[in-house]
Amino acid sequence: MVDFLGDLKRTDYCGNLRPSDTGREVVLMGWVQRRRDHGGLIFVDLRDREGIAQVVFNPEVDPEVHAKAHKIRSEYVLAVKGDVAMRPEESINPDMLTGEIEVLSKELRILNVAENPPFLIENDIEISENVRLKYRYLDLRRPRLQRNLILRHKVAKAVRTYLDSQGFLEIETPVLTRSTPEGARDYLVPSRVNPGRFYALPQSPQLFKQLLMVSGFDRYFQIVKCFRDEDLRMDRQPEFTQIDIEMSFIGAEDIQRAMEGMMAFVFGEVLGMDLPIPFPVLGYDEALDRYGTDKPDIRFGMELKEISDLVKESGFDIFKEVVSEGGIVKGITVKGGAALSRREVDELVAFAQGYGVQGLSWIKMASGGWESPIAKFFGDSSKGAISQRMAAEEGDLMLFVAADRKVVNHTLANLRLHLGEKLGLIPSDAYRFVWIRDFPLLEYSEEEGRFVAVHHPFTAPKDEDIPMLEDHPEDVRAKSYDLVLNGMEIGGGSIRNHIMEVQSTVFRKLGIGQEEARQRFGFLMEALKYGPPPHGGIAFGFDRIVMILTDSDSIREVIAFPKTQKATCSLTEAPTEVDPKQLDELSIKVKPAS
Ligand code: AMO
Repeated sequence: MVDFLGDLKRTDYCGNLRPSDTGREVVLMGWVQRRRDHGGLIFVDLRDREGIAQVVFNPEVDPEVHAKAHKIRSEYVLAVKGDVAMRPEESINPDMLTGEIEVLSKELRILNVAENPPFLIENDIEISENVRLKYRYLDLRRPRLQRNLILRHKVAKAVRTYLDSQGFLEIETPVLTRSTPEGARDYLVPSRVNPGRFYALPQSPQLFKQLLMVSGFDRYFQIVKCFRDEDLRMDRQPEFTQIDIEMSFIGAEDIQRAMEGMMAFVFGEVLGMDLPIPFPVLGYDEALDRYGTDKPDIRFGMELKEISDLVKESGFDIFKEVVSEGGIVKGITVKGGAALSRREVDELVAFAQGYGVQGLSWIKMASGGWESPIAKFFGDSSKGAISQRMAAEEGDLMLFVAADRKVVNHTLANLRLHLGEKLGLIPSDAYRFVWIRDFPLLEYSEEEGRFVAVHHPFTAPKDEDIPMLEDHPEDVRAKSYDLVLNGMEIGGGSIRNHIMEVQSTVFRKLGIGQEEARQRFGFLMEALKYGPPPHGGIAFGFDRIVMILTDSDSIREVIAFPKTQKATCSLTEAPTEVDPKQLDELSIKVKPAS
């Protein structure tokens, strides 16, 4: 039933045909999107990675070909030879790039048949992600996913072109290695020839790229797979790709300028967009003050304002008590928000409570003044001062949270985003980058009862803060920086400790003793003895950048074969149990799952 390809050669992609091709004889190859029979003619939409072209089978051109075309079903694989012609006026489809032309078929080969697919191969289909991932090869036929992966390729290519032009060398680092601390759990790989020993898959090439600087490679990059066993979210995968960078003889600003150049080049190449550089910079403290988060979405305003000083002596006991106990009161102003209904305001209260706060105080700026359950607790001058601080005018809505600073910031940051989306304040076609810098070097982890590195343990403290490292480690700021795009952390990096003593002190403050440092990072400590240059770098979440560029909701939309939320592969069913013989060879005994 199926035909062989024979010596037929494809001349064009379906999606590339235009009116200027009229009169050409073409050979197309692709999959059948659909077949329609209409007034004796058979119309087939033929699809390949570039798009869809309409092919027409006319019994008057060749009755045999026409008869054969009757057998065509969805997703059959065809080769068609025919002439490109303009469509009759009434059948022009302005929504398709090839909508003005059609191919009048003279020859048809059915290269393969296909069962009815479990879902339609179209962009907007309502099916569970599990089914999509199980049949990922069909899912990937959908135009949007084809476009995403093509764009992903273009981003990678632009990154390589730019970095090469700036003297960066792409150097591969090992995949079978030992633990690199980036804050997640490791994926372990047992070694057969070294029973009882395990490699760790790299959470990042961090230590190797630093060693390459010791070797003098000076400007390194790699587009590289990283592995992290952590809880998954819409922007996280256990196996993801970084654009990893390291440079020598530079400071933080040099890295930032170089990376802005890279982003501008990529956006220019891929979207044809002129990105304004340099990007704005926010200090970590300022970002938390103004947006409640170190990943601010600066595409819209609605900044947070603290009013603790204005309410600490007010008649409203909740505010007063929170401030006297060391907490804060902070709020946002929703422009025109006084128009929200009582139910909508109640929904906002419930939303805020979802983040662990007792309540959300609201004040509507009505024509006669404050309209609010808490209005009675404030005198006119307090009301005036608060409204002024909040830049609230008639018709606006003020929302306040009183609690511990961390909880307040977290709640308001999420409420701000929620409102931004709900009220349509976030322009979807804007790309707003912002550098966040001056992160603390260390933070105290209650859970672990010790300091942990905010970025990673190889990050250098600011020169002027080094003297505080011994007695006030919590006040030491780091030479680190994150790049945030539209509210998503797309990259992070730092200047490293190239001086042995400083690195040893940081380890000590992290509770990593000399012996442990020797055991875990002995090779790094050893390398630090042999003239490491001042160096630093950054790594970008490649998948996240592509996610934003393709306007995708999930990281899984830009990875060919992603894992599910439970870190499994629906297609291959990995991870699987293994043959007891394999375990035996690896000297591994598996505890029964509890
Ligand atoms: P960091 O841990 O901040 O830094 O990672 C860099 C960037 O990688 C992306 N990313 C992820 N993307 C998808 N899924 C994940 N599970 C995931 N985890 C991280 C983020 C993040 O900003 N070695 C350092 C970099 C350096 O200091 O040079 C590092 O890996 O976009």
